Amino acid sequence: MADWPDLETSRHELPPRGSALGVVGDPPGWLQETYNVTVVEQGDGKRRLWTVNPILERFAKERSQPGTVIDLGCGQGRDAVWLAANGWQVIAVDHLPDAIERGQSLQARYAPDSSIQWVVGDLAEWQSHPVDLAYLAYGPTHRLDPRAVTSTEVLIVGFSPAHYDRYGKPNPIDLVTPNLAATWNAEYEELNQTDRQAAFIHRQ
Ligand SMILES: C[S@@+](CC[C@H](N)C(=O)[O-])C[C@H]1O[C@@H](n2cnc3c(N)ncnc32)[C@H](O)[C@@H]1O
Repeated sequence: MADWPDLETSRHELPPRGSALGVVGDPPGWLQETYNVTVVEQGDGKRRLWTVNPILERFAKERSQPGTVIDLGCGQGRDAVWLAANGWQVIAVDHLPDAIERGQSLQARYAPDSSIQWVVGDLAEWQSHPVDLAYLAYGPTHRLDPRAVTSTEVLIVGFSPAHYDRYGKPNPIDLVTPNLAATWNAEYEELNQTDRQAAFIHRQ
């Protein structure tokens, strides 16, 4: 049995690896290995520890008002919940029912009054849904056919070629590369790239 089983199933609610974390009690080994843990006597109440994708956050904050968005391959829903909490009307789709369930409970805890349509389904069935923004982060980019995506804007974020050169993963087919950007007729350099992360925006 894992230590702190509830936390084991809520890892997506934790901050990025290496963050400072104050913990009440006796933290399990995996938590101490992953974070800069300090044991504290008392917490400071209910606080959100997870973070939204920083490129998505910047993109959304630059807009004058929120719109409609589809999060393609939303995983456990952090970005979808953050978008909804910030006024976006969200459709969040993933083919894993477990991921969608975790997303729903994340929404119930952090943004209960927000609007998210959760969908268990394959990206291919949803890619032409009419929304302002189609967003795909760290998902199967090769599944998206630029000719079929009709949203006004498309934001694609993922691992960069530099990340692949260093770690040999993930599958090269899902990297965000200059070539992928070119197939979307987008500027690869349009957003700040880091060692790890690459992104581009395509506008129809
Ligand atoms: C690495 S996770 C990224 C999750 C989330 N976008 C994020 O940035 O945290 C990739 C997600 O894509 C989903 N996925 C992969 N292929 C898919 C498909 N064909 N249709 C729908 N979802 C898919 C996986 O189930 C997984 O949740």
